[in-house]
Amino acid sequence: MSIDIGGMRIRYKDKDDTFLETHLVSKEPFGQFKAWFEEACSKKEILEPNAMCLATVSKEGYPSARFVLCKGYGKDGYKFFTNYESRKAKEMAENQNVAATFYWEILNRSVRIEGYVEKLSDEESTTYFHSRPVPSQIAACASYQSTPIESRDILCDREGKLEAEYMIPHKEVPRPSYWGGYIIRPRAVEFWQGQKRSPA
Ligand SMILES: Cc1cc2nc3c(=O)[nH]c(=O)nc-3n(C[C@H](O)[C@H](O)[C@H](O)COP(=O)(O)O)c2cc1C
Repeated sequence: MSIDIGGMRIRYKDKDDTFLETHLVSKEPFGQFKAWFEEACSKKEILEPNAMCLATVSKEGYPSARFVLCKGYGKDGYKFFTNYESRKAKEMAENQNVAATFYWEILNRSVRIEGYVEKLSDEESTTYFHSRPVPSQIAACASYQSTPIESRDILCDREGKLEAEYMIPHKEVPRPSYWGGYIIRPRAVEFWQGQKRSPA
């Protein structure tokens, strides 16, 4: 049985509201992304404007998608950090091609990126790792992403041991070799602007 949700729709404004090419801030993707991203950051309703859905493809050609947080962008690409032993990392090791999508609902905007990933240098990953709050550094060490764990107690125990070892002043949590960053080098960037919603 399939639940029919075909009637779910919202009203959009009419064609007066159309987004035109002349509304683009820049015809070069970095400038346009920066303008839209900064506007998304200015909206208090958007709690994580840097959340992007990242799609990877397995060796056998099966796609999978999940959200990650973009932690830097520029003309050279979009950066994010993760566990190098996670499912996504294994897939990216086998197939560099990825796609990512940002969606800012209240702005009726989405940005789609298609490109390929490269690992960030150890140095850059380490610098970013140590810029995170210490509990997040510990969580990254304790978590074996994408791997089933026997129980929550085992995970909490692992985290507790690391906290006892590292939650003391002037002690640095070493970045685990299995944690670091990537950059998506874009081949294509699409900017999508929908019409504003009708108040009625
Ligand atoms: C809003 C949001 C942000 C997330 N950010 C990250 C991130 O930056 N890095 C990360 O590894 N996982 C992040 N996650 C968790 C991933 O979506 C995912 O569950 C995890 O990375 C395991 O994915 P995988 O098994 O496909 O590798 C985030 C989840 C959400 C909902």
